[in-house]
Amino acid sequence: MGFFLQKKLSSFFLFSLLCFIQLSSISCEKKVSLALYYESLCPGCSNFIVNYLPKIFKNGMIDFVDLKLVPWGNTKIQPNNTFKCQHGPAECFLDTVEACALDVWPDLNEHFPFIHCVESWIYHKNYTQWETCFQKLNLKKKLVTDCVGGDRGKELELRHAAETPPHKFVPWVVVDGQPLYTDYREFISYICKAYKGTTPIPGCSSSDSLSFTSKLSTISSTITSFVEQRVKLAASA
Ligand SMILES: *[C@@H]1O[C@H](CO)[C@@H](O)[C@H](O)[C@H]1NC(C)=O
Ligand SMILES: *[C@@H]1O[C@H](CO)[C@@H](O)[C@H](O)[C@H]1NC(C)=O
Repeated sequence: MGFFLQKKLSSFFLFSLLCFIQLSSISCEKKVSLALYYESLCPGCSNFIVNYLPKIFKNGMIDFVDLKLVPWGNTKIQPNNTFKCQHGPAECFLDTVEACALDVWPDLNEHFPFIHCVESWIYHKNYTQWETCFQKLNLKKKLVTDCVGGDRGKELELRHAAETPPHKFVPWVVVDGQPLYTDYREFISYICKAYKGTTPIPGCSSSDSLSFTSKLSTISSTITSFVEQRVKLAASA
């Protein structure tokens, strides 16, 4: 515990320091938003969470990404205000478990391992084992079960319902406001393309040449339009 606290404090200190002296640091630059709209029991969703999404934690890419998880997916609100989930009541339950985990542990470093653990059980077709994730990660079970059993869980799910955009299927991955449709497994390259900061993202290095040429073409088109404007001005004068 002490170690983690120390780590958190030191990274907080570094963050504030870098922003304060206005270096063009990662923490001060605009992050790329990555949103995942999903439902707990859909096989494509657990596959994505277990086998693809953890890539953002490699090479410190997560420092450039603002990740939002929204466990609701294709769930419907029925006229009597109950939820109808695509994969049945167990899915409604586990969606709420994950919504509660997101709520009680707003820190990605806490809720992501938990959601990843639950989805791993789902991926391995044994979701009834989800409760073992508390012990495995040394997280307080009561925080989540109180939320799931109380009004908070339902309130959070209603919020997720409202946040879920129109979508064609789940998992529905949106990078920088743009849905990736069936390309969602390539989310890393979309993050690299959407990133506008000056500090290079380490995990994007393989596409460095690509982004360099695209930057060049942006520069040259800016110059071209500038020249065109001057020509027009000269002509109208
Ligand atoms: C709510 O409505 C659904 C569908 O009409 C029904 O199956 C379910 O039993 C109802 N639940 C309650 C608590 O009334
Ligand atoms: C699911 O977990 C139970 C209890 O650990 C185990 O007995 C069972 O074999 C598992 N099923 C699968 C499909 O892995």
